[in-house]
Amino acid sequence: MNQIDVLAIASELYPLVKTGGLADVAGALPGALKPLGVRVRTLLPGYPTVLAGLETARTMRLLPDFYGGPAKLLSASAAGLDLFVLDAPHLYDRPGGPYAGLDGRDFGDNARRFAALARAGASIGQGLVPRYRPKIVHSHDWQAGLAAAFLTYDRGPRPGVVATIHNLAFQGQFDRRLLADLGLPTRAFTPDGVEYYGDIGFLKAAVRLCDRITTVSPTYAAEICTPERGMGMDGLLRGRADRLSGILNGIDTTTWDPARDPLIAARYDAQTLDARAANKAALQARLGLAQDRRAPLFGVVSRLSWQKGLDLLLAALPMLVAEGAQLALLGSGEPELERGFRQAAAAYPGQVGCVFAYDEPLAHQIQGGVDALMVPSRFEPCGLTQLCALRYGAVPVVARVGGLADTVIDATPMSLASGAASGVQFAPVETTMLESAVRRTLDLYRAPETWRRLQLNGMACDVSWAQSAKLYARLYADLITERAG
Ligand code: ADP
Ligand code: GLC
Repeated sequence: MNQIDVLAIASELYPLVKTGGLADVAGALPGALKPLGVRVRTLLPGYPTVLAGLETARTMRLLPDFYGGPAKLLSASAAGLDLFVLDAPHLYDRPGGPYAGLDGRDFGDNARRFAALARAGASIGQGLVPRYRPKIVHSHDWQAGLAAAFLTYDRGPRPGVVATIHNLAFQGQFDRRLLADLGLPTRAFTPDGVEYYGDIGFLKAAVRLCDRITTVSPTYAAEICTPERGMGMDGLLRGRADRLSGILNGIDTTTWDPARDPLIAARYDAQTLDARAANKAALQARLGLAQDRRAPLFGVVSRLSWQKGLDLLLAALPMLVAEGAQLALLGSGEPELERGFRQAAAAYPGQVGCVFAYDEPLAHQIQGGVDALMVPSRFEPCGLTQLCALRYGAVPVVARVGGLADTVIDATPMSLASGAASGVQFAPVETTMLESAVRRTLDLYRAPETWRRLQLNGMACDVSWAQSAKLYARLYADLITERAG
């Protein structure tokens, strides 16, 4: 097979900068594609943490006046990944996260910050870097979305454009008066271009103007074509349904491997599952939970946001603790939810333990120590924590939406008998249904042989990138063939 060069454009990438699953995907997919003959280079914004984490860096281009200041395009590497970095201090060198300042408020110039990223990506796609001519530009989420627009409205040859939607809830919608400032021509402002409900839509532009749209699970691909879940874009997505597909995320099974994980107290595999007890004890100690090895321990690793349905879990907590269960929660995000869980931890000492932070080691310790991992999301494009849970023998308890529906097989008498069951699903996403899922989980937990089966079935699931990387490789190859024809 001929090698395919792909330029990915992403606003975060693990391990350099991460707020969520997008970073995991951007960080792991290139490695999975490499053995398939796809060479991915990823363009990232030069945030301070990105620049500090580079292992090699070489200036490829000086851009003296790029969106209001001088910038450099670096060719770089880190963590085994080939990168381009847009080093533009006036856009990215500031305290805070990738999108918001230390006060938690989005930066006022995000339109310009990410138009610049997409502009740089489009230019690389057109040959800005000597001897590098990717056949495909692959944009991730709204932050990279304008690449499709630049490549459409620029003159000259354009590479194939693939756009992946990781979360339709974030669309990048900005005032139309910014059009010229963002480097877009007036003719781009039409319903068939970047115009979106009277504004400029970054993700809309990508969805309308790319050659292939992907999202991160088959069920989410179907959901976003409905008015209920399409968040204003379902009409457009239905119109392009022949270009849309859902490809499940995987996880990096080297980083997430209970047999080798240096971050957990005791390592184990399917043959040595009993060793998990030491991790449970360590986690209980760390979170101030009662040292009771028989108490069913539920875990959560999550952004605290409406999407994740954790307010339903708060409402279900009295029932959960009344059943003698425990909860270990790691999360950060909305102050309101933090307050709720803080109060719960105070109300149920020894039974509810919370850490409000972003803490990678603790995420591993929760996966390696809890009995069940909860993901009660209202919507979930794919979800990665349930995949980690499957791999770690933590039984996932999930809402039947999006990628959660695609990756967890509900324990029913039939699926248990056939050996397929890997977790517990519930629907609709309501407190009473979550409560009955908790009750069902507790019944399963109290039948040790069944529980062990569930754990082992989950651990036998392939949650790696192997299969999905093949689907991306085929998508790229098909697109190249189509464009050559
Ligand atoms: P989303 O991208 O919507 O936040 P995903 O499940 O796709 O949801 O990805 C979340 C990723 O972030 C996972 O790798 C998870 O382990 C990690 N994560 C979420 N919250 C935290 C946290 N507070 N500390 C450490 N890791 C976290
Ligand atoms: C988004 C989604 C999540 C998905 C991740 C990576 O953040 O919320 O479901 O797993 O992107 O694709």
